[in-house]
Amino acid sequence: MARIVIVLMVSLIFLLNRIDSARILGIFPHPSHSHQIFFHSLTSELSRRGHELVIFTPKVTNDTSLVNFTEISLVEAYAAGWKEIVNYSSYRELWVFFDACYRAGVLFSESILSHPEMEKILNPQSDKKFDLILIQIFYVDALHALSSILNVPMIGLTSLAPIGIHHHTMGNPPLLSYIPDVMGGQPVNMNFWQRIINIYCYGRQIFEFNFIHLKKQERVLKKYFGNNAPDIRDVSKNISLLLASTQYPIYHPRPDMPSVKLIGGLRFYKSTPREKMSPRLQNILDNAKEGFIYFSLGSNVKLSQLSEENRNVFVHVLAELPYKVIWKCDLDDLPIKAKNIFLEKWVPQQDILAHSNILLFLYQGGQQSTEEAINNGVPLVGFPVFSDQRSNVNNVVSLGIGQKIELSSMTKESMKKTVLEVIQNPRYKKNVIELRNYINDRMNHPMEEAIWWTEYVIRHKGAPALRNRYQDVPWYQMEGLDILIFFIILLYALLYSMYLVTRCIISKIFLRARSSRNLDRNWKSD
Ligand SMILES: *[C@@H]1O[C@H](CO)[C@@H](O)[C@H](O)[C@H]1NC(C)=O
Ligand SMILES: *[C@@H]1O[C@H](CO)[C@@H](O)[C@H](O)[C@H]1NC(C)=O
Ligand SMILES: *[C@@H]1O[C@H](CO)[C@@H](O)[C@H](O)[C@H]1NC(C)=O
Ligand SMILES: *[C@@H]1O[C@H](CO)[C@@H](O)[C@H](O)[C@H]1NC(C)=O
Repeated sequence: MARIVIVLMVSLIFLLNRIDSARILGIFPHPSHSHQIFFHSLTSELSRRGHELVIFTPKVTNDTSLVNFTEISLVEAYAAGWKEIVNYSSYRELWVFFDACYRAGVLFSESILSHPEMEKILNPQSDKKFDLILIQIFYVDALHALSSILNVPMIGLTSLAPIGIHHHTMGNPPLLSYIPDVMGGQPVNMNFWQRIINIYCYGRQIFEFNFIHLKKQERVLKKYFGNNAPDIRDVSKNISLLLASTQYPIYHPRPDMPSVKLIGGLRFYKSTPREKMSPRLQNILDNAKEGFIYFSLGSNVKLSQLSEENRNVFVHVLAELPYKVIWKCDLDDLPIKAKNIFLEKWVPQQDILAHSNILLFLYQGGQQSTEEAINNGVPLVGFPVFSDQRSNVNNVVSLGIGQKIELSSMTKESMKKTVLEVIQNPRYKKNVIELRNYINDRMNHPMEEAIWWTEYVIRHKGAPALRNRYQDVPWYQMEGLDILIFFIILLYALLYSMYLVTRCIISKIFLRARSSRNLDRNWKSD
């Protein structure tokens, strides 16, 4: 009897806590595969738990196992614009990259706001209401207005560690004296000059965000909603929660607002389906008794975008190594004959990293790839190209789980030495396994946390209890600029008045001296 009562009570609690099928609108504009994997991990699990999802994405998955899961493709909407913006070879210059982000933001916002499916959603006659919006926070602040226009709470997602604009949006202190800005890519232990560069990088990002990017987004907002448009600055920061795909200590421990949740590792959740490896590839890996290296530039950078010199170094060094190399790239053939190198256009990365014969992952430093390598206990050698990659590889080096190669100064000797060091010195393998055990030792799986927080925001129609004052004050006040300027003016006034007083005193003394000298002279000439 007691047992039945307990069971009934538990089910009752479960039922009370449960929200039956909420309707969720997902907006994930960035076409990069590595971003989309993260969003899909979360939305597919929300769907499996009975929620209904409508998702705007440039990468539809056509996953037929999911019900009430509607994907609206943005491929056609981007067709012309994206090609004009995207140029990964120019992104090594940080401010060129940011400029492309602002332009991409305009393309994304306009394409989504003018999409026929979005027009249906925005139609006041629409009888289908949403309970929550999930949105990728990536320079699409005009789309943040959907929260106020549809009167629905909004959760922000980022598949990177929070970058400057995320800290700025959520009200996190930037702490530039000891935490390298993710996009600035300064080393973990910054010296004096590196700290100055760090402050400059963050400061310029926030300045450009407010004075270039938000102005562009404001124009988009006005174009679609005219005078009814809410204020871009209000909507930009009206995010209930930020779910970021990273975790400590890959992400520097730091004080963040309670509305920022780190949920890195969603892809490793039990029910997330994996892609299958081809029998041919499986055979190659199983037979690589001497071990193999997995080499990938990620989903964005193409080999053809690296310099000829860099390409030669990669090919020649890898061909000389006594290991097999699985090389994911867009090439059909290598310029030299190398029996140990296998070119693959597409690979199931997680299965390769999980293979027992793997020795090393040679990569460009992407956030998702870093997590996957750690989750499989694979040491890393990273050659950062753009965006957050340098900062990720710096963290890999400081955690002792790999080494960095700078493409600008890479030679055959330096590359070979670094690769052999990481493979042959057992320290890296040991550290990465320790790190994995440490990261995986947590109370709940990050997926459980992500789902819990998502449903929390639905239950409470936002997360007002977690909202901080910083999100309500103007940005210059938030960064303390008004106080800084006040004191600069005060200091200036003080120095200037001191100068005036000193000048006055000096001139008085001087005058007196001169007049007495004049008297003197007058007296002598007399
Ligand atoms: C999904 O379906 C569309 C239309 O049938 C097709 O164009 C697209 O290539 C498919 N995508 C995937 C990833 O299968
Ligand atoms: C799909 O959504 C509709 C409407 O929200 C709901 O009635 C139906 O039960 C859902 N189907 C499943 C299998 O969850
Ligand atoms: C991409 O950028 C590189 C370097 O800035 C430049 O040389 C190249 O012409 C650009 N490509 C296109 C298609 O604009
Ligand atoms: C902020 O979000 C809430 C929903 O959480 C919405 O009702 C409100 O209109 C939004 N306000 C602004 C200014 O965006």
